[in-house]
Amino acid sequence: TNVHYYDFVLRETNITKNCTSWSLLLVNDSLPGPTIQVHKGDLVFVNVHNQGDYGVTLHWHGVKQPRNPWSDGPEYITQCPIPPGTNFTYEVNFTTEEGTLLWHAHSDWTRATVHGAIVILPEEGNTYPFPKPDGEEIIVLGSWYSQGDELNAVLAEDLDEGADVPRSVGYMINGEFGDFVACSQDSTYHMYVDYGKTYHLRIINAAVSAELFFAIADHNLTVVGMDAAYTKPLVSPYIMLSPGSTIDVLFTANQTPGRYYMAARRYSSESTDVTNFDHVVTTAIIQYSGNYSLDSSPIFPNRSLPSYFDYDAADSFIFMLRSLASEGHPSDVPLNITRRMFIVASISEILCPHHDCVIGPTTIGSSLNNQSWENPSTDVLQAYYKNISGVYTADFPDFPPVFYNWTGDDMPEESGVSDKVTKVKMLEYNESVEIVFQGSDILRGAESHPMHMHGYSFYVVGHGLGNFDNVTDPLNYNLVDPVLVNTFAVPRDGWIAIRFVANNPGVWFWHCHIDRHMSWGMETVFIIKDGDTEETSMRGPPSYMPPCEDSYNIARM
Ligand code: C2O
Ligand code: CU
Repeated sequence: TNVHYYDFVLRETNITKNCTSWSLLLVNDSLPGPTIQVHKGDLVFVNVHNQGDYGVTLHWHGVKQPRNPWSDGPEYITQCPIPPGTNFTYEVNFTTEEGTLLWHAHSDWTRATVHGAIVILPEEGNTYPFPKPDGEEIIVLGSWYSQGDELNAVLAEDLDEGADVPRSVGYMINGEFGDFVACSQDSTYHMYVDYGKTYHLRIINAAVSAELFFAIADHNLTVVGMDAAYTKPLVSPYIMLSPGSTIDVLFTANQTPGRYYMAARRYSSESTDVTNFDHVVTTAIIQYSGNYSLDSSPIFPNRSLPSYFDYDAADSFIFMLRSLASEGHPSDVPLNITRRMFIVASISEILCPHHDCVIGPTTIGSSLNNQSWENPSTDVLQAYYKNISGVYTADFPDFPPVFYNWTGDDMPEESGVSDKVTKVKMLEYNESVEIVFQGSDILRGAESHPMHMHGYSFYVVGHGLGNFDNVTDPLNYNLVDPVLVNTFAVPRDGWIAIRFVANNPGVWFWHCHIDRHMSWGMETVFIIKDGDTEETSMRGPPSYMPPCEDSYNIARM
């Protein structure tokens, strides 16, 4: 095992973008933040120095952290925030992951500016399951907010009231808007390529609330991995990434030497306010070496980049992905299920007893099985480990309280109203779990929900539009080479079925990775109990965890 040490200094940093100066919370003064690069099997310590004004936590998205939720990061789930002026060291263990992931803040919407790439190379001496590329490049897709400098303060106040939150005004490639946004052309990101060579792009969707399409003009992309697990090579003119998803692609520079745009744009889920921008497509330039005129504008992926709300394009890409399922990278989908759950994800109305609702007895929120999550003030992990009562209850339901036509028009009134609760799901060690996530369009019409699980990857064995049918749909499950991921979108007006073995004891967050939906309550926590031996039990806490009773925490609540 190689051990790596990183220092992450979080502080407000002045940067100029879109003709304006902003003070943003960044890590080591950069946007995106620093890259963590390891080999599979390595161990990393990240010392986080919080020099900002608010409590904050970091999360290693997609790293399973076996038996060690203490370093996982989501605030009030596995730890309390790191107080300003203090530091906390995370221990990140890379065991089974191989490919690309991301790290990000896990406190309110801080992750809009606090995120970066994680690159996990094969174990030393091992090779990729594809020919070694001639070069590689990290592509971090991010979102930009007009209220960027006050994002956190604005949100801390507004979210409690269920008020609407700042709208993203644009997107970025490696921290740059690209050629279609005012005052940005000089800093457009460039990737330099040689004709005939093949490049590995590690593409990360770090945008806060948007699913994004990505394409390169005139060049096909070959997907070879997703969420740090290899896939069967899939050739496609474009890809789609949910927030939190990471996709490894290869492309060959085999077109007439020149300049080509790579571009990303939102396809759903977040309304965009374009006031300050000429165009909401973010671009970077692929520039071939050679002698040609730089006078004409680069070629735009007109034909390959799908347009807004092209749900069919999103579905037809994402549902073609298959895990590699080869001898070196076998798939081990659980076949004998011991625990079945059916979880309905809804945007819904929330009863307000715990909140000062400005508008009446209910407010807008979101829920899983009609339970709208409320963060406790002591983290769930600590309460579980120390047996502190009154922090959560262990009665998250396996099924929704009422069944009806989730994707139809006629829904019973009550089904749309949820309670604010802190209900977790307890699982025995090693249970084989199947969860069907059903999307519902109770309140706002259909939206897709990229569901993300901490501590695990899961197989997506089935999907469909409309209502899940528990007799016929399981007959079509793929139990041979389903894709293995940590985040996967429940399509609008549809469902997905996922499977995993509960073999990582601890406290693990499950949530929609569209932060607006998460801040509204679309999440729960799974507690996987200890097995019989020490190796199958959760580890104890490190000697220091950030305190939960700090005055700044109380002030924020
Ligand atoms: Cu990307 Cu709860 O995380
Ligand atoms: Cu959602």
